[in-house]
Amino acid sequence: MLVHIKDLVKESQKGGYAVGAFNVHNLESILGVARAAVRAKSPVIIQVSEGAIKYMGLKPVTHIVSTVAKNVAAKVPVALHLDHGKSLDTIFECINAGFSSVHIDASDLPLDENIALTKRVVEIGHAKNVWVQGEVGVIVGGHGQTGKELKIPLAKLEDVEQFVKKTKVDTIAAGIGTAHGVYAEEYIKFSLLKSIKEKTKIPFVLHGASGIDDNKIKKAIKMGVNIINIGSDIKIAFSKTLIDNCLKNRKETDPRNLLRPTIQAVEDVVFNKMKLFGSAGKVDVGEVKT
Ligand code: G3H
Ligand code: ZN
Repeated sequence: MLVHIKDLVKESQKGGYAVGAFNVHNLESILGVARAAVRAKSPVIIQVSEGAIKYMGLKPVTHIVSTVAKNVAAKVPVALHLDHGKSLDTIFECINAGFSSVHIDASDLPLDENIALTKRVVEIGHAKNVWVQGEVGVIVGGHGQTGKELKIPLAKLEDVEQFVKKTKVDTIAAGIGTAHGVYAEEYIKFSLLKSIKEKTKIPFVLHGASGIDDNKIKKAIKMGVNIINIGSDIKIAFSKTLIDNCLKNRKETDPRNLLRPTIQAVEDVVFNKMKLFGSAGKVDVGEVKT
């Protein structure tokens, strides 16, 4: 069922686990994420980037997620979120389309401009009962990229503190060592995470979580990370499965036969993340038919 993100986050705070926010790109990945949530009996955040909205269209993706939440994942709570919104037009369209949460990513601007822009989105979002996520300290890398050498900057604690105080965002993302994609250089600066949690006291969103060691993820959750974003691991599983299946079945002419295994591949990745994040088993769904 479709719910407000605040309900998921409040429950996760009480239960001491993190909710996964999974990037979707098409019908197959939406189904994979939804089926994983049902199988894991877990709450879930389905998030779309501006790129995914451009690819699917805002109305189609909003309706598909709502319909899948209502029918496929009727017994588990599903929240719809805009990830890394850069364009104000897109952010306002998502607010009006029924998203319960939007991320305004103005982290590449000077701090005062980031604060001013984010504050504007918070005022409009809150008037419509929509949560707003802000970001300080650019989270570098590229979704789905792997391997290349990367320099990862860290957010400044005083900037994060000032930003949260002035903007009144509901959730905060900040550069703490992780990057979008899978890179050898990624890490988590736990001392910075600890200080951010102490100073801001609002839910922290860990971006760039693909490629981060399981033990570090568990430690970050213990230290108060509330939402964990996973994008690249889904893209990689989807693409690898599709390529392998196409190569094995070069003469196949039914797209469903080529795409079907990708749904399962996404489901498996997301199911394992839900177990890792501690959100699996947190929803009482009664008997689950799989
Ligand atoms: O906003 C999305 C996430 O931060 C995804 O990061 O591609 O490293 O999983 P990832
Ligand atoms: Zn991100």
